[in-house]
Parts: sequence; structure tokens; C-alpha cells
Amino acid sequence: MSKKYYITTPIYYPSGKFHIGTAYTTVLADTLKRYRTLRGYDTYLLTGTDEHGQKIQNKAQELGKTPKEYVDEMAQMAKDLWKLMDINYDQFIRTTDEKHEKVVQKIFDKFMESGDIYKGEYKGLYCVPCETFFTETQLVDGKCPDCGREVIPMKEEAYFFKMSKYADRLLKYYEENPDFIKPSYRKTEMINNFIKPGLEDLCVSRTSFDWGIKVLKDPKHVVYVWLDALTNYITALGYMSDNEELFNKYWPADLQIVGKDIARFHLIYWPIFLMALDLPIPKTIFVHNWITMKDGKMSKSKGNVVYPELLISRYGLDATKYFLLKEMPSSTDGVFSPEEFVERFNFDLCNDLGNLLNRTISMVNKYFEGKVPKYKGIVNDVDKDLEDFTISQIKKVEDTIEELEISLTLQEIWAIISRTNKYIDETMPWAQAKEENKEKLESTMYHLIENLRKIAILLKPFMSDTSDNMLKQLGIKEENLKTWESLNKYDQIDNVKVIEKGKPLFMRLDAEEEINYIKNGMKK
Ligand code: MSP
Repeated sequence: MSKKYYITTPIYYPSGKFHIGTAYTTVLADTLKRYRTLRGYDTYLLTGTDEHGQKIQNKAQELGKTPKEYVDEMAQMAKDLWKLMDINYDQFIRTTDEKHEKVVQKIFDKFMESGDIYKGEYKGLYCVPCETFFTETQLVDGKCPDCGREVIPMKEEAYFFKMSKYADRLLKYYEENPDFIKPSYRKTEMINNFIKPGLEDLCVSRTSFDWGIKVLKDPKHVVYVWLDALTNYITALGYMSDNEELFNKYWPADLQIVGKDIARFHLIYWPIFLMALDLPIPKTIFVHNWITMKDGKMSKSKGNVVYPELLISRYGLDATKYFLLKEMPSSTDGVFSPEEFVERFNFDLCNDLGNLLNRTISMVNKYFEGKVPKYKGIVNDVDKDLEDFTISQIKKVEDTIEELEISLTLQEIWAIISRTNKYIDETMPWAQAKEENKEKLESTMYHLIENLRKIAILLKPFMSDTSDNMLKQLGIKEENLKTWESLNKYDQIDNVKVIEKGKPLFMRLDAEEEINYIKNGMKK
């Protein structure tokens, strides 16, 4: 039986069109799902929308809509974008789904019964856009420490969750499970900034608005959005419903991906809620950084927002995904700039990858009428070096994916592409073609085709269409030549004929024209 792999993205606040930064989490999750599927796992990817709370109620009102009308439109917008981006999710959960709402009520009830939730009075400061309460000391310059906006004083009867009761257990869990938080510096941040100074009990209900899930036993209260939202990861699987099949199969999650701004909710509150429910904790929560612009955060008012549609419609989905995944290091924010986008397109995709395929296909046609010669082992002096290098790179690709260092993964794949390009310069097939004995040329062509086949497979999770296109041009039809397992050997291609005339994978861009195109698109 294949091993299961459950991946989640955060559920999105439907507050307008998604920009490339917001799309990043989901692109990453989809890529990792594709990788695990290729490695034989039974995968399940969950995404969705986070539809309750004061922010949404206010926004709908502003637009003269009911909250439900507003979130219906927004959920559809999210689904349309994921379709355009070919995101292979298995379920799209909405927190307004009845099955979710019912279970959140049951969970709240359970916490009341167990004494984890008690009634009190909340006096404090609230940031409406972030839906978060703060104490005076947590503010930065008197403003919200997360978004920098004004906070408002608030006093109301409220329910509280006893976070403090679980602090020691959480610390112990961190310590005993080094893979729980990646990268590990996020763990240090949580401990030093939030847990060591003392975990305060969390306010988990509101009474001043009603767009939320009502507390069953006290319906003037609605459940705090983060308690509502976080539980989506289990309600989606049918937890506490009359069909827990998915839950039994997939929980605990293998990988939950979140952006740095919501790390605290996922690394502290979420495991604590799970402990209170007596459920296993996810194996890994991965916190990624942000995609920013040279002049800081993307914002409509700065006119520097890049929407995925702008890039996809002109440069294709694969180029857009490549850029996003490549430009996000694990230690700092990634930066989007039109200049860098066009450069990566022209250098990495057109020159390095596209030309390698094109040159190889035309040489196999020219020298062997398209028929890929048989493998003869090590013939050229550099064959062994190419083989050893490639095999060791494949291991690095696997290791970096395991560590979720995806930008590095792409670097490792591109190192194979560069090494293969260099192999052409070293072997000089045009000179080998002049020799009477064609053995060397045969070996060169075989190695080039075999490396391109490997590159196509390695790229499959990242750039699926490009990978398929490459395999098609290479004439690789057999399914067993498209598997990850087939990467580690060099002698498997037999009786393959490449396409007669190769088609460029990516057309070179006019840098100036395209930089202007993107810049103009950002202003719209
Ligand atoms: N609704 C909450 C999540 C609840 S999960 C139980 C939320 N939604 S969000 O729409 O505001 O953000 C969704 C994801 O997009 C988050 O992981 C957030 O970090 C990510 N990003 C938003 N802007 C981003 C960038 N500029 N760059 C990368 N990721 C960004 O938070």
C-alpha cells in the first residue's frame, strides 16, 4: 500500500484579487504534491477560503452586499485562479460550509466541557484587519505589530482558551520533534517572542458582530475567526462527522505550508488546540517568507502589485511558477522585479534549458536521422564525469526537496542543465562527426538525450507542461522512462526516435519591451 501524504495551504481571506505573493503558498503546495505523487505517495491537497469575521462583514457592507454574496464571489474567484494555475487540489473548503460550521460548534462545546474554554471579559486592543487582540505591550509605536495599522479599544464579554495551561507541553513537543517546524529559526522566534514571555489565554469569541459561527450554548457569541479557520484542516477530512474515513486515513498532516505572517497561529495555537482535542500534531509546518517588491510590500496604493494573470497570459504558467519558486530563498524574502523576471526567462529558460533541448534534437536528426544511438557505457573521457555528476545532483534535488529548500532544488536541477551544456563544448560533436568511427558521437548523443530525459522528469513537479513537452520532443513514450525511479540509471533508453524538428520551449524576450509591459501591467 502506498504511503499517504496530506498537504495543506492556509485558507485565504477573500479580500480582493490574489497577487503573486498570495499565490506563492498554493503554487508551492501544488508542486510538493506533484513531487510526492511522482514518488508514489497517495497525496491529498487541501485549500480553501476563510470566510468569517468582522473584516469580511465590513467589506461586504462597504460594497453593498451581504457577507454571503461577497464570499460566494470571492470563493469563485479563488477557484478560477487555481484553475488557471493548474493547482491540483483535492478539496476546496469554505468555512461557511455547513459541515465545517457544525464541527467547529462541536469543538467549541468540547472545549467548554473540558474546561479549556471559560467565560470572562475582554478588555484590550483589537486590530480589525488582522482580526487579532493585542495587549498594550505588544503594540509597536501604539499600532498593530503585524500590519502597522490603528488598533481600537474593545471591552466585551468573551470566552477564553487556556493557552497557558499548554505552554510547557508545547515546548516539550518542539524539543522532541525537530522536524515539526521548518526552517528551525522560526522555532526560536516562537519560543523567545511568545512562549517564554508567557502565553496569554486567547480570546476565542466575539459578541459585537455576527458574521461567524455561533457558539451553540451561547448564541450571542460567534467563534473567533482563528479558532474557526485553523480547524478547517481537520473538518475538511470529516473529523467529528458521521464519515471520518478521510480523517482516519490522512491525519496528521504531513506538511502544512504557511506564510511568515501567520506562523504564530500555526506554530502555537494550532498544536495547542490539537493537544486539547487529544489529536496528533502535524509532522511538519513549513513557514515561508514573502514575495516583496524592490520598494517593499506589494500594495495597490504604491501601484506595485503583480497579479499572476498578467504574467501567465503573456509568458505562460511554467515560466511564472519557475520564477516564483526560484526567487524565494528560505532565509529572506524573495523579491520580484520585472528586470529579474525577464532575465531569468531569457537566461535560465530560453538559453540554458531551451537551447540545450533544441541543439540536441537537431544534432540527433542531423547525425542519426533522429534515432537515438544505443548506450555503450563510458566512451568519451567526460562521460563518466557527466554521469557521476548528474547522479549526485539527483540526490541533492531529493535532499533539498525534503528540506523544503525549493529555490535550491531548482539551482541543483539547473546545475545539471549547465553541466550538460558544458558536455557539448567538451565533446564537440561537430568534430566527432568527422571521425570515421562514430562510437564517440553515438555516446555523446546518447548521454545528451538521457540527461535531457532526466531533466524533464526532475522538472515535472515544477513545470509540468514543459516537462511533457520535452519528453514528447525527445520521443520518450514508455511510461517506465518517465518515472522518478528511472532517474538513477543510464542504460534505459532503447529504440527511441526524437521529433524531426524541435520546437523552442520558450521564445526569447525583448528585454526592454517586456520590462515595460510588466511595469505598465502593474499600474492597472
Ligand atoms: N486566512 C488566513 C489563513 C488562515 S489558515 C487557517 C490568511 N489568509 S491570507 O489570504 O491573508 O493569506 C494567505 C497566505 O498568503 C498566507 O500564507 C500568507 O502568508 C500568504 N501571503 C500573503 N502575501 C504574501 C506575499 N507577498 N508573499 C508570500 N506569501 C504571502 O492569512
